Amino acid sequence: MKKIIIAIDGFSSCGKSTMAKDLAREIGYIYVDSGAMYRAVTLYALRAGYIKDGQIDEAALQAAMPGIRISFRPDPQTGRTLTCLNGEEVEQDIRSMQVAAHVSPIAALPFVREALVRQQQDMGRQKGIVMDGRDIGTTVFPQAELKVFVTASPDVRARRRYDELLAKGQPADYDEILANVQERDRIDRTRAVSPLRQADDALVLDNSHMTIAQQKEWLLEQYRRVAWQQ
Ligand code: DC
Repeated sequence: MKKIIIAIDGFSSCGKSTMAKDLAREIGYIYVDSGAMYRAVTLYALRAGYIKDGQIDEAALQAAMPGIRISFRPDPQTGRTLTCLNGEEVEQDIRSMQVAAHVSPIAALPFVREALVRQQQDMGRQKGIVMDGRDIGTTVFPQAELKVFVTASPDVRARRRYDELLAKGQPADYDEILANVQERDRIDRTRAVSPLRQADDALVLDNSHMTIAQQKEWLLEQYRRVAWQQ
């Protein structure tokens, strides 16, 4: 069976990463969370002071881009993928509300997208990869053999993120999270470069009322169906 590329796109907090990660582990593929890469650039910009009062110093960030290296490594204890920014593990930091609040405008910058899309395409050269994001099936790998577009209602997604933060012992306010989810949907859908949209040949999965186990089973089925045809 030949290795394929699996592109999983969809709205924020709809469980894409969990599904994508589970599938990759099950079938022995590499998993790449492209959202983590946009979050890492945002963290870099915040730390460097390039975002002040919601204003981004685009010239400074563009000049810094060639020096921003994002990589992934497995946690030796849990096997979970950890995101690294210039060699420093930043997995916790990129999941903060502060990063979440600033990542959409950063991800809308053409020079940021160009740099990250190039890195993502390089990661897929050997195939055998599951990548999740917003533009994987449309821009990064338009030739992907399997494309899935995941969706769920905004309140279901806000509730999931709220529960996730509470479980990690981080402060969480449901209304703030719902507003953040809705605002990110709006920016992701309306930005000029690579807006979030379903690829014409993507399979749609609305998981508002599905369990993680049901989603996993559905995705495995799609993988088997497509991979056997290769
Ligand atoms: O999936 P996430 O919530 O971690 O993504 C963080 C942000 O990055 C989100 O605002 C959308 C953006 N993003 C993007 O524009 N393109 C991708 N391929 C992945 C994420």
